[in-house]
Amino acid sequence: MNGADSGQLTGGPRFVGRDAELATLGEALADAVNGRGGGLVLISGEPGIGKTTLAATFARQARGQGAQVAWGGAWEDSGAPPYWPWVQVLRSFERNAGAGALAEAAGPDAGLLAQLVPSLGTPSGAIAEGSGARLALFDAVTATLDRAARAAPLVVVLDDLHAAGRASALLLRFAFEARLARVLLIALYRDVEARLDDELSEVVSALEANATLITLGGLSRISGRRLRPSAGPRRYRQPAAASCCLGSPKPCWTAGPLTARNHLCAKRCAWPGSPVRPGSWRRRPC
Ligand SMILES: Nc1ncnc2c1ncn2[C@@H]1O[C@H](COP(=O)(O)OP(=O)(O)O)[C@@H](O)[C@H]1O
Ligand SMILES: [Mg+2]
Repeated sequence: MNGADSGQLTGGPRFVGRDAELATLGEALADAVNGRGGGLVLISGEPGIGKTTLAATFARQARGQGAQVAWGGAWEDSGAPPYWPWVQVLRSFERNAGAGALAEAAGPDAGLLAQLVPSLGTPSGAIAEGSGARLALFDAVTATLDRAARAAPLVVVLDDLHAAGRASALLLRFAFEARLARVLLIALYRDVEARLDDELSEVVSALEANATLITLGGLSRISGRRLRPSAGPRRYRQPAAASCCLGSPKPCWTAGPLTARNHLCAKRCAWPGSPVRPGSWRRRPC
C-alpha cells in the first residue's frame, strides 16, 4: 500500500493514541529539520497493529510542517522488480515534488538511477549483481536523497521491509550510514517475519543495533475505548476502526475494522468477565 499517496495522508479513518511514538518520530524529524541528521526510525510489530497508520499519520504531520515525504512499500507476492520499494520511493518523490524534481536531484547520477526509474533516461548498464556496481547504485540513490533534501527536509518511508528483500534492506543500511543531514528514514516491518529470512534478518539486526526503535504494542485502554463503536454489533461492520479485547488478561489490543484477524482476536478475548460478550463477535467479518 502506498500510504503517503493514499487517503491516509489526506484524511482516512480517525487516528487515536500513539502519542509517545509520534513524539519520538517528531524528535527525529526535528533533527532532520535542523540539519543534524534524522537518522533511522524502525517501527516493528505484528500485522494489523498499526505500523502503516502510524507512519502515514506522522507523514501527514511532517508534510504540514513543510517536510517532503517519499513513500515506498514492498510487494509481498513474488515477481517484484529489484529494489521495488526504492523505485516507489523515487517515484513518490517525483510525484510529490513535481515533474523534473527527480532528474534535478539525481543530477550526475541520473544514468545510474535510470536503472531503477527508466524515465530518467538511458540507464548506465543493467542492475548488476556485482558488489562494485551495487555500491555505485547505492551511492547514487543516497546522493540523490541528499540533494532532494536541500529544498526541504525529506522523510523516506519504507513499508513492509520484511518483504523487501536483502538488497533493498542493504540500500537502507547504506543510506542510514551515510548520515544524511536533512533526511529522516523510517522503515516498518513485521518483526517475526523479518526473522524468518536469514539473509534479511542479518541486515535488520544490524539496523536495529543503531536505529531508534519503536515496537508497537496494542493501543492503550483509553485509546482503545475511543475506538470502540458506541453501540450495536452491526457497527462493527463499518470500515471505521473498531477494537476488541478490552479487559483481556492478555495484552491483545488490536485496532481496525473487523477483519478476519480481529474477528479471531475478539473470539479469543471473549473470556469470562470480559466486556466483549462471548458470541457477540461470532458474526461474519466484513
Ligand atoms: N492509532 C490508530 N487509530 C485508528 N485506527 C488505527 C490505528 N492504528 C491502526 N488503525 C487501523 O487498524 C488497521 C490496521 O492498521 P495498519 O496500520 O494497516 O497495520 P499494520 O501496518 O501494522 O499492518 C487499519 O484499518 C487502521 O485504520
Ligand atoms: Mg502495514
